[in-house]
Amino acid sequence: MKRTNFIIMLLFFVTSSIQISVSQTTITVDVKKPGSPIQSTMYGIFFEDINYGADGGLYAEMIKNRSFEFPQSLLGWSTFGNVEVRTDGAPFDNNPHYVRLSYAGHDEKHTGMDNEGFFGISVKQNADYRFSVWARIPQSSTSESFRVEFVDENSNILASEKIAVNSKEWKKYQVIIKSKKLEPKARLRIFLMSKKSIDMEHVSLFPVDTWKSRENGLRSDLAQALYDLQPGVFRFPGGCIVEGTDLSDRYQWKNSVGPVENRKLNLNRWQYTFPYRFFPDYYQSYGMGFYEFFQLSEDIGAEPLPVISCGLSCQFQNHSDNAHVAVCDLQPYIQDALDLIEFANGDLTTKWGKLRADMGHPAPFNMKLLAVGNEQWGSLYPERLEPFIKAIRAKYPTVQIIGSSGPGSEGKDFEYLWPEMKRLKVDLVDEHFYRPEKWFLDGAARYDNYDRKGPKVFAGEYACHPKNRKNNFESALSEAAFMTGFERNADIVHMCTYAPLFAHVQGWQWRPDLIWFDNMRSVKSINYYVQQLYGMHVGTNVLKTLSNKTPLTGQDGIYASSAIDKVKNEIYLKIANTSNEVKKVNYTFNGLKKGERKGTHTILKSDNLDIENTLENPFAVIPVTSEIKVSDNVFSVELAAKSFNLYVIKQ
Ligand code: AHR
Repeated sequence: MKRTNFIIMLLFFVTSSIQISVSQTTITVDVKKPGSPIQSTMYGIFFEDINYGADGGLYAEMIKNRSFEFPQSLLGWSTFGNVEVRTDGAPFDNNPHYVRLSYAGHDEKHTGMDNEGFFGISVKQNADYRFSVWARIPQSSTSESFRVEFVDENSNILASEKIAVNSKEWKKYQVIIKSKKLEPKARLRIFLMSKKSIDMEHVSLFPVDTWKSRENGLRSDLAQALYDLQPGVFRFPGGCIVEGTDLSDRYQWKNSVGPVENRKLNLNRWQYTFPYRFFPDYYQSYGMGFYEFFQLSEDIGAEPLPVISCGLSCQFQNHSDNAHVAVCDLQPYIQDALDLIEFANGDLTTKWGKLRADMGHPAPFNMKLLAVGNEQWGSLYPERLEPFIKAIRAKYPTVQIIGSSGPGSEGKDFEYLWPEMKRLKVDLVDEHFYRPEKWFLDGAARYDNYDRKGPKVFAGEYACHPKNRKNNFESALSEAAFMTGFERNADIVHMCTYAPLFAHVQGWQWRPDLIWFDNMRSVKSINYYVQQLYGMHVGTNVLKTLSNKTPLTGQDGIYASSAIDKVKNEIYLKIANTSNEVKKVNYTFNGLKKGERKGTHTILKSDNLDIENTLENPFAVIPVTSEIKVSDNVFSVELAAKSFNLYVIKQ
């Protein structure tokens, strides 16, 4: 090598190594003057019965088609012997079908029926399950019996209990049944023992161990996962499911309350939305309805945020001339909205407040938020929203109303609807964005220049969608980086909810999702842990966090925001390094008194951007926490490449 070339190369190495050593980021955090308040509703959850999120998921009922109301009355059941579907003298008006089990015609033959459950009935060894049924004996006046059994895939009987039905009137019978072994794919069998008939309706099976041990309960592991997110707000029940493919199958909250046996079955639009993930047995039993929603909101400490139909059926799915209700015919829809507020908040002298009390909750649920419409667009929407707003404001002026900005994060519909929402003076505007990594990484400053005078923002559905639609690490890191923009703009962004929440590994229609499960296990995605880190460290006020007088929104791959919790006396530094290098960051805290402080550092990181947490490998990437010390008002850290970091400093 020539001497001159050697010198040039040497110079190159020297200058590039100098560059590495000076590649430091200096961040100033203004602790002296805490900024805008952060709403307690800031980070929340959004639930929709998609991916078997309710029936077959969070709602712990294990029997599919328990009331024989699916259009094919025996879907989910296989019968043997003499079983007849009937409607005469049914006990529940809204669910008119029931079955009659009668003598098979020969003493050696048998009558009965098996239920397949949701992707099987998964029973644990020696755990208690509560079987219940409404039954009567139509012919005899004494007592007739049947057995209820768990049967495995090889027809072995795992549990068997006898029930005697002793009345001609419909009555509820129940028994606790336990399996002698664990069986993920059991069936529930009903086996007629008598020669006389028994009529049956609302055949139900729940684990005794439900969330808070409630009989019409929720799966405890899934409800616990929601509780552990510490969500500030809980949006329910959707999503497109609110709208209906036709108005007749929109979500009508009144069908979801009252005795569970009499709740009217509804179609689930996710049954057929994606023909390549078609589930002909997907319906909504409404067993987890609006009462259970309010109750769960209370349990997990989240503000309930119901969404109701605005009289538009799904604009993606329905293009017929009479798809939507005419504005002049909206009154019943508006009344539904007003009645829902009464159900949540009304006292016992009101019709709907009394129903809530009769269901077990005399105290009001103190609902403060209501969304009207989901992903609507065009002038059809504001035309319908306006009369809702007038009626709600007149009767319930303190309820905050949420309007929609359409299905997209930008574009024609979005541009049209935001000014319309301002004109109508909604309190918050719901934005939805399911976008790729780059959109999230490029968009961390999205809210920095939003109009501060108009309605606030509710990012009501969002998730990073990688090409392979996995809940991979890269998507989680992109969301974490983007969310620093939510926090920095907490004066205008008041709520955000990742979507969708749940997915059954065998029954999903939409990916990615926050929590995955099968019948026995559940796994928290890496995205879940991002939500949890934000949800557990909301803070009360934003702290101005600047580098060279500018917010960090991706310069050099770094995204940062900070908050203070004035009640807990804690400072939260959230910082993502999306680059491939370790980054040195020097924080200076203006206004922090001298002294040594303790704290923690929690990191989510991986070298493998495509890795995900699965049922088989649930802890592939999870937050790891270590202790830190902060001396005086400076704090230097090294951010691992591809990492999201949370520093908690105790003041
Ligand atoms: O979250 C899944 C769906 O995405 C919601 O139902 C809908 O609002 C959006 O299009």
